[in-house]
Amino acid sequence: MPSADVSQAGRVVLITTGGTIAGVAASAQDHLNYRAGVLGAAELLASVPGLADAAVESLTVAQVDSCDMDHATWLRLAQTVQTQLARPEVLGVVVTHGTDTLEETAFFLHHTVQADKPVVLTAAMRPATAASPDGPQNLADAVALAGGAAQHGARGVLAVLGGVVHAGVDLRKLHGYRVDAFSSGDAGPLALVQEGLVRRWRAWPDCAPAFAGVLYTDPADWPAVDIVTSHAGARGATLDALVAAGARGIVLAGTGNGTVHTDLLVAARRALRQGVQVMRASRCVAGGVVGAREGALPSAGDATPAQARVLLLLRLISGP
Ligand code: SIN
Repeated sequence: MPSADVSQAGRVVLITTGGTIAGVAASAQDHLNYRAGVLGAAELLASVPGLADAAVESLTVAQVDSCDMDHATWLRLAQTVQTQLARPEVLGVVVTHGTDTLEETAFFLHHTVQADKPVVLTAAMRPATAASPDGPQNLADAVALAGGAAQHGARGVLAVLGGVVHAGVDLRKLHGYRVDAFSSGDAGPLALVQEGLVRRWRAWPDCAPAFAGVLYTDPADWPAVDIVTSHAGARGATLDALVAAGARGIVLAGTGNGTVHTDLLVAARRALRQGVQVMRASRCVAGGVVGAREGALPSAGDATPAQARVLLLLRLISGP
């Protein structure tokens, strides 16, 4: 398992947040019944030959199952990443995270952190105790990517899983069980990590976050933004109830190319009149919303409903 050739002149900082990559089950055959986020950074590093002795520092921001990710943890993570990137001796940052909301965290970091060095998220589908865990190789690849910018020039918020490098802004989880669970959608992957070497296919993402000011806000003040899925028999009352409960933004996970059940559409227009922002995404696995039909609600474009929710949240926090 070739790992990073992290130069002693520089450091990679590993920030742990929990997830299956740090998960522990009672049996090596059990991939389902485990506790996420149990292991600490030292144990994760010890699982990769050579990494425990490499120039990797570690910090723990959270120890959660990422289905429980929250705004305060996002902000703490983004601030910690930004602080570490500012240290001249830091070559890049690795973030370990659960797979379930990895795409949301990656999207949030892409839009808030000035990442002119690599910020590499990674995760695992199998717990650390599995007979054949995917976490150690993913961690080795992440450290290679974060520590080797002098060779490959990587920058921006990235994710590496199964040797495939995705732009954080494009990442999406497609499968609930298989090790090969992630995609970059229509954008396609950025690069591969093979035997510790990086082969790049397209340009590294830009590192000019549109919402950097969010790092200086208080998550207790962030507005409520919710997702409502359109489906056969959808009820406008669902959307009305969210507005009554204080939602300041609603993402409609529409059918097909972002179409929305008429009952929901009527409720969405009612919400708009009350000053609630509404955005239309597609619940399709790929493709997003193409183009804009006349009179249609604002489109989330390529963003998945979960990513669109982050975008709407960031816009609302940042104001007009
Ligand atoms: C989690 O998202 O924390 C649990 C599931 C996983 O990491 O695969």
